[in-house]
Amino acid sequence: MATTANGTITGAQIVDLCRHHTLFEWSAQGTVDPIPMARAKGVYFWTPEGKRYLDFNSQLMCVNIGHGDERVIRAIQDQAATLAYANPFMATEVRGRLAAKLAALAPGDIDVFFFTNGGAEANENAIKIARAYTGRHKILARYRSYHGGTFGAMALTGDPRRWSTEPGMPGVVHVLDPYHGMAGGSDSAGEALARLEEIIQLEGAHTIAAFFLETVSGTNGVLIPPDGYLQGVRELCTTHGILMVCDEVMAGFGRTGEWFAVNHWNVVPDIMTMAKGLTSAYVPLGAVGVRRPIAEYFRDRVFPGGLTYNSHPVGCAAALATLGVYEEDDLIGNARRLGPVLTVLLEDLARRHTCVGAHRNLGLFGIVELVRDARSKAPLAPFGGTSDEMQLLSRTFRELGLYTFTRWHSFFTNPPLCITEAQLREGFALIDSALTTVEKSM
Ligand SMILES: Cc1ncc(COP(=O)(O)O)c(C=O)c1O
Repeated sequence: MATTANGTITGAQIVDLCRHHTLFEWSAQGTVDPIPMARAKGVYFWTPEGKRYLDFNSQLMCVNIGHGDERVIRAIQDQAATLAYANPFMATEVRGRLAAKLAALAPGDIDVFFFTNGGAEANENAIKIARAYTGRHKILARYRSYHGGTFGAMALTGDPRRWSTEPGMPGVVHVLDPYHGMAGGSDSAGEALARLEEIIQLEGAHTIAAFFLETVSGTNGVLIPPDGYLQGVRELCTTHGILMVCDEVMAGFGRTGEWFAVNHWNVVPDIMTMAKGLTSAYVPLGAVGVRRPIAEYFRDRVFPGGLTYNSHPVGCAAALATLGVYEEDDLIGNARRLGPVLTVLLEDLARRHTCVGAHRNLGLFGIVELVRDARSKAPLAPFGGTSDEMQLLSRTFRELGLYTFTRWHSFFTNPPLCITEAQLREGFALIDSALTTVEKSM
C-alpha cells in the first residue's frame, strides 16, 4: 500500500477501507464521502496528507475541551496501566471519585449516578428508572428531539430518525415544543405550557411516568426554551407526579456557558442524562443522574439495569480528568464570555447574507438556518432532505478547511470551548466566504 510522508496509509486508502468494510451512520452507504482524519489538536484536525480543518462542531458536539489534551490522555494511560477494567460489581476509586465530583456539580440533590457507554444507554436506563419509580408506563417526549439510536431512545426521539424503527417501544406520546420553525415562530412559555397541560389531561396524568426533554434541543435546531417554559414544566411535573428528565447529553458540560443548560433557568430535574462532554469523547462514557429520593427507592428494590462496561475505569478516569480541565482552564467561563461574541458574529453574517433566515446561540451552542427567499422564509432544503445549495455549502466548507455539521437547511457553530476569539473569527471568515459562493449559485 502507498503511504504518506508519515508512513501511514493515504487518506484515500483509509476512506476506501472504511467504506468497504464498515457502515456509516444515518446514510445510504453509496453517498458517504468521509474526511480521512489522522490527528487533532486544540480546535484543529488534519488529514494524513496534512490538510488542516478548523473543527467548528467539536466533531459531534462532544469534544468540548478540544482535541489532544495531554492531561486527559495521561489520565487514560495511567488508568489503563493500573486497572484497565473492573466488572461493574466491583468498587473502584475512579468510579467513586467521579460520582462524588458529579454530585457536587449537578443541580440540586441529583447526586447518584449510573454510568453507561453513551447517551442513548443513559436515556434507556432513565426510562426504566422512571417507570420503576412511578409505577406508570407512558413517557412524554418532544417531536423536535433526538435521544439516541437504541430502541427505546429512538422511540423517544421525535425527528425523522425515529421513522425507520417504528412501531417502536409502546407508551411514548410526542408533544410539540415552543418552536414551530422559522416561518411558524415560537409560542410563549404560557402557550406551550397550556398545550402540554392539555395533553397531560387527555393522556391521564396517572399513566405518565416521565417527560423527557433536551434542555436546549441540539440537532433539531439549537432550540432555546423561552424563559419560564422549563420552570413551568417543572411545576406541571411536580403537580402531576411526573418525573422531569432533562437530556443534557449535548447541552451539558459547558456548551451553553453553564455546567448544565438547566442552570440558566434554575431548574432541578428529577433525572438528568449526560454523555459527550462528560469525557469530551476521548473515550465513551455516559451517565444517568437521579435525585436522592429516586436513589433511595432502589435501596430495598432491585435496580433494573446492567452493562458489562458500566463505570468503566478508563471512562471514569477520562471523565475526572476532563472535569479537571474544564475547571483549570475555566472553559465554562470561556463559553459564557464568547457566547455574546458568537451572537454578534451571527448577526453580522445575517446582515451580509440574505440567505440567513434565522440564527440562535446560547454560549457556544449555535445554529444558522438558511432560506431560499428572505421574505417567505422558504428553507434552503426541505424538511428531512437536502438540496444542491446545501451540498455546495458542505463542499465549500470542506474545500476551505472548515468542518461543521450541516443538516437539512441548517449548519451549526459549536466549536470546542477552548476556542479563542481570534479562532472564532477565523471560522466566521470562512463561513462568510462559503455563503457568498452559495448565494452566487442561487
Ligand atoms: C440530546 C442527545 N441525547 C442522546 C444522544 C445519544 O447519545 P449517544 O450517541 O452517545 O448514544 C445524543 C447524540 O447525539 C444527543 O444529542
